Amino acid sequence: MRTAVLEGLRADPPAIPPRFFYDTRGSELFEAICRQPEYYLPRAERQILRENAAEIGDWLGDGCVLIEPGAGASVKVRLLLEYARPGAYVPMDIAGDFLRRSAGRLAEEYPWLDIHAACVDFCHALDLPEGLPAGRRVAFFPGSSLGNFEPRDAACFLRGIARMVGPGGGLLIGVDTKKDSDRLNAAYNDCGGVTAAFNLNLLDRINRELGANFDLDQFEHRAFYDEDLGRIEMHLESRREQRVRVAGEPFDFDAGTRIHTECSYKYSPAEFTTLAERAGLRLRRRWQDRECLFAVYYLECDSLKPDGLEFALA
Ligand code: AVJ
Repeated sequence: MRTAVLEGLRADPPAIPPRFFYDTRGSELFEAICRQPEYYLPRAERQILRENAAEIGDWLGDGCVLIEPGAGASVKVRLLLEYARPGAYVPMDIAGDFLRRSAGRLAEEYPWLDIHAACVDFCHALDLPEGLPAGRRVAFFPGSSLGNFEPRDAACFLRGIARMVGPGGGLLIGVDTKKDSDRLNAAYNDCGGVTAAFNLNLLDRINRELGANFDLDQFEHRAFYDEDLGRIEMHLESRREQRVRVAGEPFDFDAGTRIHTECSYKYSPAEFTTLAERAGLRLRRRWQDRECLFAVYYLECDSLKPDGLEFALA
């Protein structure tokens, strides 16, 4: 984190990777974002998973090995378990202790479920643990997490998924769609100020963990949809000229200088389908919520032809 943050702040324009949002406080704030009325994503996705659970279960098939990169507390997979009845569930997460506790709770609630938790950072590796039962492999990647990747990296990640599930395997993925900018801008500028607090918590975390002296009152949350790039950008904008020290190193900001903290790409169904097919995943079914705010896709890996997309992300 120290190396990544210092390198990011030295860059022009300065930027900090979004994965550093998620310390304990940041994860709580993200949960709170998901309860804001403007942030439609989790509600729309839950509606899709709930209303189509039986059909989704049929696509996954009984006895599949269900793999969830970045599973967190394994909240959404519960919507699938009764209908899909997987032979095994493989939650993957970078936060080992959190993963162990979540998997433990899940095991108590679903005694029939064979759980193999794996502590891995899915941005770097998608290695499956040993000792998994036979069965068709299906990856589950909800929440539009794919949006945080640059499109090129998203294709590489999907390629990594195709390799992981292998020919005949599947992917069930939730992706936010392009829509009018007002709706998108509102989702990242909630009236409760929770997204702003989430964004600013990054500076608080850097203060605490890297010995920095960011004054949170002197930075402002900015989030906007860039129609041309098809992405939400989040920034922290300096309210005045100021000098901040991070791990002993001085950084000068002019009034209006922005630290770029997140990109959240939005894909039309056609764009997403093209991206996935480039990675060797063929679309089998798409579901949307009633308002068409969000999409869930089921794709399958037919074969693994070489295509120059190596899964090796920075
Ligand atoms: C977790 C990456 C899907 O991009 O909507 C929410 C993160 N950032 N509000 C998103 C986020 C600001 C979220 N993802």
